[in-house]
Amino acid sequence: MRTVLYPGSFDPVTNGHIDVARRAGKIFDKVVIAVAVNAEKNPLFTTQERIDLIRAACSDIPNLEVSSFNGLLAHSLERFDAGAVIRGLRAVSDFEYEFQMALMNRGLNDKCETLFMMPSPEYSFVSSRLIKEITKCGGDVSAFVPPVVAEAMRRKFGLGK
Ligand code: PNS
Repeated sequence: MRTVLYPGSFDPVTNGHIDVARRAGKIFDKVVIAVAVNAEKNPLFTTQERIDLIRAACSDIPNLEVSSFNGLLAHSLERFDAGAVIRGLRAVSDFEYEFQMALMNRGLNDKCETLFMMPSPEYSFVSSRLIKEITKCGGDVSAFVPPVVAEAMRRKFGLGK
């Protein structure tokens, strides 16, 4: 049984994240999306809300589980019985930070191998940060996030339907 961990803040999950999770699900027996509890100081959504949104948006991926982790990612692999970590790479600009993080995580735990997957090109410019900013300013992000996420953000920002 090959399990891979897909960690991140997922504040909130986007179609780009889901695309990567779906691709990983075709390669591995099990994908565990793990929401980082402490990664971002001021998330828009609580950990449980982020988990619920991912579960709602990914219900059609049969070999996917959603959980959360506290503390260091490198020390969480064993808890999920995962053999590797998946991270999405959208563009070259992501690479430097991801490269640093992958090597740092392996420095902390020699078993922590990171595999990079590219989402579909139509999501190469999609980020949770931009999605929140656009929604807050009244923009339409329905092409970039599942409907349940678009709705949850509008509720958070006190915007009508
Ligand atoms: O996609 P994100 O939000 O940048 O990913 C967050 C996370 C925690 C997966 C990433 O920053 C990471 O792997 N960091 C390595 C250091 C670590 O384990 N941080 C955990 C929070 S204290």
